Amino acid sequence: MEKNIAVIKGDGIGPEIVEEAMKVLDTVAAKYNHKFNYTQILMGGCSIDAYGVPLGDEALEIAKASDSVLLGSIGGDTSTSPWYKLEPQLRPEAGLLKIRKELGLFANLRPAYLYEELKGACPLKEELTEGGFDMMIMRELTGGLYFGERSTEEENGEMVARDSMSYSETEIRRIAKRGFDIAMKRRKKVTSVDKANVLDTSRLWRKVVEEVAKDYPEVEYEHMLVDNAAMQLVKNPKQFDVILTENMFGDILSDEASMVTGSIGMLSSASLREDKFGMYEPSHGSAPDIAGRNIANPIATILSAAMMLRYSFDMDQEADDIEQAVEKVLKEGYRTTDIMSEGKTLVGTKECGDLIAARI
Ligand code: IPM
Ligand code: MG
Repeated sequence: MEKNIAVIKGDGIGPEIVEEAMKVLDTVAAKYNHKFNYTQILMGGCSIDAYGVPLGDEALEIAKASDSVLLGSIGGDTSTSPWYKLEPQLRPEAGLLKIRKELGLFANLRPAYLYEELKGACPLKEELTEGGFDMMIMRELTGGLYFGERSTEEENGEMVARDSMSYSETEIRRIAKRGFDIAMKRRKKVTSVDKANVLDTSRLWRKVVEEVAKDYPEVEYEHMLVDNAAMQLVKNPKQFDVILTENMFGDILSDEASMVTGSIGMLSSASLREDKFGMYEPSHGSAPDIAGRNIANPIATILSAAMMLRYSFDMDQEADDIEQAVEKVLKEGYRTTDIMSEGKTLVGTKECGDLIAARI
């Protein structure tokens, strides 16, 4: 098969980790006789430096015309980088929000699970994680507070800022369906997270989720308030299978969930729309403090490339190969510095990519 992949290396550690994911993809292509054509586009701080905008029209058109997008990470240090002195709509993150919206990527899948090999890195007490945990955060990605109207204006002699949050039934229904579909392929449990004791958007969310649930009688579902969900994630992470939630809650809970695994450098993510098209990126950020030093963990990006093969290209066997290669490398004791522990072999970004590619 021949596929066209738009590649956004981005900022910070982005270029290094994407390089390793492409190395692994090329190894898969050679083994299975596929051809992956990459077109690199700029987004984030690097695009600001080159063109003055975080995502240019041409870059967006290339992404739209491709079969999928592979993304590293974007953004810099928000307190020191000159990018954060610009107007909000010209900052690196605005490029990311724009591409999500323009490509219609409403469903964000963020798996968080405890790697047997990396159990020691989990910050929770062993008795809480006995037997491991494995959840999928399904985050709505193109609505809510992120895309509502905002303003900062002077009123009665002081500044007043506003961000507005809205959700339509259509927006809620399509993400809820995706959540239940995914639950059907997993342990058949959905926890829908909202703040229905306060917010109208949450009350509508609950109503629509209940309607959708009727079409999935095999799936057990529950509603949970977001503050309680934040607590339950550290108290009893094993109870969760699919966590279905809106944009902002999903942003926060997915960081919490990934931290609970103790290995954020390992977690992939996929942003999808109704068809096969998707954008794939690690769950972690651009880590500007360690950029360019060949110490970043490329595994989250490599596993995101595996998700791309599975969800966008229907290449399940190829995706399995990548995931198994990653597990082998961990079993053999190789670790990048973020997941290093006593008695293991420390490797750099490039070596980690080479080791994985060699096991495909
Ligand atoms: C994420 C990030 C982004 C978000 C930022 C960089 C805008 O935190 O993908 O979770 O809030 O969606
Ligand atoms: Mg986030």
